[in-house]
Amino acid sequence: MEMKNPIIGIDFRKYPMPRVRHHVSPQLYLPLERQRFRPTWYPPLIDQVSWADWFANGAGPDVLDVGCGRGGFLLDHALAFPEMNILGLEVRQMLVDWISSVVRGEHLGNAHAAWYSAVNGLDFVPSGSVQYATYLFADPWPKKRHHKRRLFSAPFLDELDRILVPGGRLYLATDVPEVAEHQRATLVEHGRFRVVELSEADPWPFPFTTDQERFCQRKQIPYTQFYATR
Ligand SMILES: C[S@@+](CC[C@H](N)C(=O)[O-])C[C@H]1O[C@@H](n2cnc3c(N)ncnc32)[C@H](O)[C@@H]1O
Repeated sequence: MEMKNPIIGIDFRKYPMPRVRHHVSPQLYLPLERQRFRPTWYPPLIDQVSWADWFANGAGPDVLDVGCGRGGFLLDHALAFPEMNILGLEVRQMLVDWISSVVRGEHLGNAHAAWYSAVNGLDFVPSGSVQYATYLFADPWPKKRHHKRRLFSAPFLDELDRILVPGGRLYLATDVPEVAEHQRATLVEHGRFRVVELSEADPWPFPFTTDQERFCQRKQIPYTQFYATR
């Protein structure tokens, strides 16, 4: 698999990625409290974190990348902004293990990927501490009967509202027009966020792409980017 890092250039040949199973149990996308039995491979809940175990400076995350996938954005972000801690949350353990091997191999003290299903909440993240969160190409679930698996909901926005600093942003990207519509409507209905469309004066701020964004670019699949602010 080709992976490029446009900022510094990690040599990904050192980190062969295992074959990624695309289909994981749909149960992973539902909160543990709504399951009758704990499904196999359900990620552990996180109550409390000793941040020094995850970040070299002992502080918590400045940036939260929810659904970090293969971690392209997370790794580039950590390299480009060494003064900011970035925490990725990802429900697929194999991807988290792989990202962790890169983080260790490249001695990135400001990046961490946690195996976790974000539908279980963000209690372990301190209030008013995160500068921005990203939710990039996550949560497509286009079929109506799968909408219950969508993380993007009022409780999720309550959590983001709590952990973001005043004026903190939630960056969003999707290649599914109906998902963008759902996200805008959920944000408006929630009432604590203002949706901002990108413009020349207020462009997408990141000089690197996510893995899914690169895929869309290669396949010429259009996608939308915007942000919401408190
Ligand atoms: C299409 S991928 C996009 C990955 C990455 N953000 C990118 O743009 O390349 C969506 C990722 O979100 C993860 N995801 C979906 N629901 C999640 C949840 N409840 N908690 C954590 N990760 C989740 C999926 O496992 C998947 O890896």
